[in-house]
Amino acid sequence: MNSKLRIPLCWKVYPAVEEAGGSDVEDLVKEAKVEHNSVKELISKIEKLDPDDELFDATYKVIAEQVEHHADEEEQEMFPKVEKLGIDLLALGDEIKERKRELEAEQDTLMGKAKSAVRDMMR
Ligand SMILES: [Fe+2]
Repeated sequence: MNSKLRIPLCWKVYPAVEEAGGSDVEDLVKEAKVEHNSVKELISKIEKLDPDDELFDATYKVIAEQVEHHADEEEQEMFPKVEKLGIDLLALGDEIKERKRELEAEQDTLMGKAKSAVRDMMR
């Protein structure tokens, strides 16, 4: 999968929470961003590992644990704030879906160009 298509669930939620919650949510959002970056780094690392590598299984386990921890914190701390701040999650969800459609269209265009270039080279 093209990495651009991995739209983080929180891509739109965090800025909305920051904007609506101000300094009350500053630390919570910062911690969530650090957790996202940590998981991204581990995913980048495991993508380069051979499944037979001695650290593959341990890396996978840590990713799973970190994602679970992050999801638990969001459910228990972030989402209640979102609800209290009156943020429209359905509207944010629509924006995320629209962005995903745009990225998929870009990817289709790029794939079409790549296939065409390969066909031209084969002639
Ligand atoms: Fe998140």
